[in-house]
Amino acid sequence: MNPIQIYFMSKLKVGVLASGRGSNLQALIDAINKKEVDAQIAVVISNKGDAQALDRARKHGINAFFINPSDFEGRDAYERRLVEILDEHEVGLVVLAGYMLIVGKLVLEAYRNRIINIHPALIPCFPGLRAQKQALDFGVQYSGCTVHFVDESLDSGPIILQAVVPVFENDTEELLSKRILEEEHRILPKAVKLFSENRLKVDGRRVRLT
Ligand code: GRF
Repeated sequence: MNPIQIYFMSKLKVGVLASGRGSNLQALIDAINKKEVDAQIAVVISNKGDAQALDRARKHGINAFFINPSDFEGRDAYERRLVEILDEHEVGLVVLAGYMLIVGKLVLEAYRNRIINIHPALIPCFPGLRAQKQALDFGVQYSGCTVHFVDESLDSGPIILQAVVPVFENDTEELLSKRILEEEHRILPKAVKLFSENRLKVDGRRVRLT
C-alpha cells in the first residue's frame, strides 16, 4: 500500500480558517456530527480575535486559535505559524470558510490541492469582496456559490461544486446573501465529503469526480 492510500484510510483531519461569523464552519460541524461527513475538524484558526467562528469551535470542543497577523513581521512569518499549527494537527484538508485574507505562497505550497474555499458567486464571476452586491449591481438573473480548490489566483481555482440561485426583481444584498448562504451550507460539507472519500481528481482546470 502506498502512503497516499494509507493517508486516505485514516479519518480526514480538517483545518478551518475563518475570519467572522462562522456559519459555514457550523454547517460543517453539524454535517460531521450527523455523520453525513466522515471527517474531523482538528483545528480552527482565525485572524480575528472576535470571530464568532472561534466561539463556535470552542463550544464544540475544537481547538481554536486566534493568530494575529500584525504580531508577525510580514505575511511569510504569519503563514509559517499557520502551517506549523496545521501540521501539528495533522491536517489533511484546509477549508477557507469566510477567511478574509488572501492565502500566500507558504500555505499554498504546504497544502497544494488540499485547500478549498467557498465563494458566494458562480466563479469566475464576481471574485473578491461583496460578491452578492456585485451580482445585483451587474443585473444577473442567477447567481450562486462555488466551492473550489485554492490556487494563486483570487477566487478562481478549479471548481468542485456550484449551486445556482435565482435573483429576484426586488432583491437586496441581504436577501440574496441569505438565499446563497443556504446553498453554501449544503455544498461545502458535500465537497468535504467528496474530498474525504478521495473522489476529487484535479486535472488542469477540471475537477473530476471519481
Ligand atoms: C460566506 O458568504 C462565504 O461564501 C464567504 O464569506 C462568507 C462567510 O460566512 N467567503 P460565514 O463566516 O461562514 O458565516
